[in-house]
This record gives sequence, structure tokens and C-alpha cells, in this order.
Amino acid sequence: LAETLVDQLQRPMKDLRISVIDKCNFRCTYCMPKEIFGDDYAFMPKDQLLSFDEIIRLVKVFAQFGVEKIRITGGEPLMRKDLHLLISQIKEIEGIKDIAVTTNAVFLVRQAAKLKEAGLDRVNISLDAIEDDVFKETNGRGIKTAPVLKGIEAARKAGLNIKINMVVKKGMNESQILPMARYFKGTGARLRFIEFMDVGNHNGWKMNEVVSKKEIVEKINAEMPLEPVDPAYFGEVASNYRYIDGEGEIGLISSVTDAFCSSCTRVRLSADGKLFTCLFASDGYDIRKNLRDGASDSQIVETIRSIWIGRKDQYSVDRAAGKPSPKKKIEMSYIGG
Ligand code: GTP
Ligand code: 5AD
Ligand code: SF4
Ligand code: SF4
Repeated sequence: LAETLVDQLQRPMKDLRISVIDKCNFRCTYCMPKEIFGDDYAFMPKDQLLSFDEIIRLVKVFAQFGVEKIRITGGEPLMRKDLHLLISQIKEIEGIKDIAVTTNAVFLVRQAAKLKEAGLDRVNISLDAIEDDVFKETNGRGIKTAPVLKGIEAARKAGLNIKINMVVKKGMNESQILPMARYFKGTGARLRFIEFMDVGNHNGWKMNEVVSKKEIVEKINAEMPLEPVDPAYFGEVASNYRYIDGEGEIGLISSVTDAFCSSCTRVRLSADGKLFTCLFASDGYDIRKNLRDGASDSQIVETIRSIWIGRKDQYSVDRAAGKPSPKKKIEMSYIGG
């Protein structure tokens, strides 16, 4: 039976976000700018990545603590070889109720059916623009929207539940807010607008480049009237609105202007096996070392328990309160968002 563990702010541990690879086929300007992540960038060597066996061993421990939801991230997680084999093993772990992948969708054309068959429940697909001219810039690789839209179609055909993630940044793609809303309205896929966050050290984040949740809702509401809806579950990152005409819902992820740390139930595992208790932490705990040094299951359990019990992170709340941010932060492509 699961033991419920709460941290210093009384938050239970409910979700585990697992990054399975730090590489990506895109170079989104706000995540992996190509000037930094160039041809000579040193990605993790293969032997540093947690093996599927190591990941499964950890997920079993997390499930004992009440983790029910697993999210697979990257970099681009579909670039990890045989990802479906990992999913099918996670699916069998008692207590796991929901498995999702966050992806740019390009490789879904080939993998959607296989992933669904392995037990994947849903996909969150990153797409920052519907017009090619804008999208070619945001993804840093001159890729048009067609391969992503084909990936979305493949996910739909496979029966996966779909959300679309659009990071909104001033000067980059705010022109796309209405075209994206129009495009996805009535399709059954929930479009979520994400405030540009100060993750990592390389994306040159500035407060005046953030387009707030409020501005986005007002803009859409003026053309396509909206009303707020209750969260789908406790601790949901997005706040949701429905179109009054019944044509579906949108979500807003407002880490900057309306922080949601007080209900943050997420723990994160990097591809090289470090545990992080916040997306903005500067350091993680090297659990891979314990695994490779031959720690017993009960030692792993104790380690994770003590990390969660000591957790105090509420970075977005602190930022809003004007506290200085840590000098060195982990990169988005390293921790997977
Ligand atoms: P659902 O389970 O579908 O609700 O997924 P999700 O929104 O939790 O995950 P996803 O990977 O789609 O992330 C969407 C956006 O929310 C990304 O920009 C993430 O970085 C951001 N996000 C997710 N969890 C957190 C969090 O704990 N803190 C902050 N600040 N941002 C988060
Ligand atoms: N701010 C907000 N969201 C970001 N993502 C990547 N970098 C940032 C950032 N700086 C998003 C991706 C993806 C999700 C995992 O995180 O677009 O949808
Ligand atoms: Fe790749 Fe996603 Fe980062 Fe874009 S946001 S570079 S698709 S990991
Ligand atoms: Fe959780 Fe940290 Fe994000 Fe706050 S900033 S919601 S504590 S991950």
C-alpha cells in the first residue's frame, strides 16, 4: 500500500517527470538556442543515461510513495531508442494510473501506434505557431508545421489523448495566439498557452518578454467568448477555460504571473539519474550513484523519503516575491520542463 509522504509545505508527491534523453531534433530559441547547442555541444554519453531497468526500479519505489502519474520528457523523448519498451514496463507497475509523453510530435508518425499499444495514455505536443514563417524561426531548424501536424494526426488515429503546448514569448510568436486558438478550436485537442519562463541560463529571459495569462485570455475572449472551468485534478498546472459555444477548452500555464507552487506535487528525474525537487533547482541528488553502487531497495526508499520530507522549493512564488534567482539553473532540455 502506498505511503503518503508530504514535504515541508504539506505537498504530497504525486507525479514523477522522467527525462529519458537530453538531445532534441529541434533548437527552439527559448530552450536549446542553436548558438549554445551547436554541432560540438557535448550531450550525455550513452552510459550516463539511466537504463530502462534502472528507471523501472526507481518508478517502483516512487509508486510505493503514492506517485500515480508518470510523464516522460527529454530533450525529445521519442529519440530514446525503444521508448515503447519502457512504457510497457511502467504500465505494469502497481499504482501507476497515467502515463504521458511531452514531445514535439515529429516522430509520432512512426511511433504513435506502437506507443499506444505499449500503454501510453496521452501526449502533450509542443507547437508554438501555426504559420510556417513563424514556426520555422521558433524551432530553430527551419522545420515547417506539416511534420508536427502529421504527428498530431497519427496520435489522434492511435487513440491517444492530446494537448497542445504553445510557449508564448513577446516578439517571437504572440501573433500566433489567435490563429492557434482558431485552428485547434473544436478539434478535441486542448491548446495550452504557456508563459515564457526563466528556466536555464541560456534563453536570455526577460520579464518584459512574458505575455501574461490575463492578456492571452482577454485576447481570445474578445473574439471567441470563454468562461473559467474547475481544475481537472488537484495540482493541475494549467487553469482552464471553455468556449461558451461548446467547442472545447483551452488552458493557461502561468508560472510567472500566477505561480502554482503551493500545489506542486512533482518530482523530477534527469536522464543521467539526478533527482530534482523543483524545475528551477540548481542541484540534484545523484540517485544513479546509489543504484550503481549497489544500494538496496530499502536504502533507495529511505533516500527518497528524506529528500521529499526536506523539500521546501517554491521558486515561482519566490521569484514573484522578488527574491534573487539561483546563479546557476538547470537547463530545460536537461530536466524536461
Ligand atoms: P498535464 O499532466 O497534461 O497537465 O501536463 P503538464 O502541463 O504538467 O506537463 P507538460 O510537460 O505538458 O508541461 C507544460 C508546461 O508546464 C511546460 O512549460 C512545463 O515546463 C510547465 N510545468 C510543468 N510542471 C511545472 C512545474 O512544476 N513548475 C513550473 N514552473 N512549470 C511547470
Ligand atoms: N518557458 C516555458 N515553457 C518552456 N518549454 C521549454 N522551455 C520553456 C520556457 N523557457 C516548454 C516546451 C514544452 C514543455 C516541456 O516545456 O515547449 O512544451
Ligand atoms: Fe526540443 Fe522541446 Fe526544447 Fe523545443 S522545447 S528544443 S522541442 S526539448
Ligand atoms: Fe513546483 Fe518549483 Fe514549479 Fe513551483 S517552481 S511549481 S515548486 S517545480
